[in-house]
Amino acid sequence: MKISASFLSSKDIPKDLVKLNDTDVDFIHLDFMDGKFVPNKTLPFSEMKHIGEYTSKRLDIHLMVKEPSKYIPMFAELNAEYITFHVEVDEDILEDLQLIHSYSIGAGLAIKPDTKVSSLVPYLPYVDQILVMSVEPGMGGQAFIPESENKIKEVRALLDSYHVKAVVNVDGGITDETISLCREADMVVSGSYIVKSDDFQKKISSLR
Ligand code: DX5
Ligand code: ZN
Repeated sequence: MKISASFLSSKDIPKDLVKLNDTDVDFIHLDFMDGKFVPNKTLPFSEMKHIGEYTSKRLDIHLMVKEPSKYIPMFAELNAEYITFHVEVDEDILEDLQLIHSYSIGAGLAIKPDTKVSSLVPYLPYVDQILVMSVEPGMGGQAFIPESENKIKEVRALLDSYHVKAVVNVDGGITDETISLCREADMVVSGSYIVKSDDFQKKISSLR
């Protein structure tokens, strides 16, 4: 199981990024919120862009924004393995996926808990990651929604039926207790479970 660590709930982001850099975590999950797609706002890009000063890990960027096309070119400057935005946005999704690919970065589509898996179908040939939200996007530290276990299985079955090799990632409420509900995923995002502990590596190892 690959692990992507979210620093959304960090009290001291630079310090936690340096600590995470010394673990075997696979990716740093960068959550970005515009205050429109979700009510909350994170730090602006002008501050997020300094992330490379604290970590050499590849980034798994999660854009919770209304207009991904506005932000993709900025975030593409960072050390990103994936840039993911939401299938619920009103923009031309294929264009946005292609925009991400134009920077040779993997393109991801995130899906909220109440959105049907079938909404992903038109985009399957163009995605490298599906991010199954196991909480309502907008904040860290929420409880894993139990129905997500089936959602993960549905996404996996859909990808298999279309012979799509995209990575299945799960985001929200991942702990050593909920990880057993994510066995059909390739990767999980974990935030507060890791950064609110005093032994990051131990928590990361408990999820593998
Ligand atoms: C929620 C974010 C998640 C969140 C995960 O909107 O997308 O990435 O930070 O944090 P935990 O693990 O605390 O649910
Ligand atoms: Zn996220």
